[in-house]
Amino acid sequence: MTEQTPVTEEKSAKVPALPDAQTVTEVKHYTDRLFSFRCTRPSTLRFRSGEFVMIGLMGDVNPKTGKQKPLLRAYSIASPAWDDEMEFYSIKVQDGPLTSKLQHIKVGDEIILRPKPVGTLVHDALIPGKRIWFFATGTGFAPFASLLREPQTYEDYDEVIITHTCREVGELTYGRDLIESIRNDEMLAELMGEDFHKKIRYYPTTTREESAKMGRITDLIRSGELFEDLEIDPLNPESDRAMICGNLAFNLELKELLEDAGLEEGANSKPAQYVVEKAFLD
Ligand code: A2P
Repeated sequence: MTEQTPVTEEKSAKVPALPDAQTVTEVKHYTDRLFSFRCTRPSTLRFRSGEFVMIGLMGDVNPKTGKQKPLLRAYSIASPAWDDEMEFYSIKVQDGPLTSKLQHIKVGDEIILRPKPVGTLVHDALIPGKRIWFFATGTGFAPFASLLREPQTYEDYDEVIITHTCREVGELTYGRDLIESIRNDEMLAELMGEDFHKKIRYYPTTTREESAKMGRITDLIRSGELFEDLEIDPLNPESDRAMICGNLAFNLELKELLEDAGLEEGANSKPAQYVVEKAFLD
């Protein structure tokens, strides 16, 4: 999840220093539209892998009042619950109120992080199954970067299939690097067993630039090509569980495909077979 409707907080204008400040520890740029960064984690913050928090920066000084307000957006936490630091994966929108500024952060800078995690892309919202699908487009990969590093994912499922559809090849880099790092992660291997990473099936596709696999994942599901490529049975409500995070049209289309296959939408209060979260882009 990246930028969405602005959230401003009247009272914070009275706070002299940056409220809920965390320090940036790493910044990586992938394309002119994508970057990731890490920051310190509030010592009291507990969250479930897959959730999101509000993060941001101080807005410009209001010329009328001379005051500043925090400019916050919902961001999926890309790091797992056990990580000492927090990681985020973001789009850069040149005229976006927050990301036009956020894209310039450097190690040592401060950001605002409200320590109130929420979200539906959590294991608690799904009933037990054998195979879990993570369906992402663009920066919708972020919550899955968290869940792919979450031991419970491998405890709960025999197979973990992550599909990531982007317009161009360069937009797959963050996800590709992350999968590679998980396959070589000694700590996870120690915790989950040497072969845990063999449960991961990574299925990247592009739609506007030539790559090994092209096409929208929705079309590849409809045609059956996805299942043929992975040499597995089609979606089945008995064994398959799914999480969806991408742009709105994608979420709606995929939801329909899952419903057609007999899966039901779950929530924290009523776990079922799939859950959806929107990756906001503005
Ligand atoms: P496409 O290039 O055919 O629009 P965006 O950057 O616009 O959020 O899109 C990210 C990726 O999601 C793109 O590859 C885009 O494909 C794909 N996409 C957009 N809408 C849908 C949809 N309704 N179903 C499946 N994939 C979609």
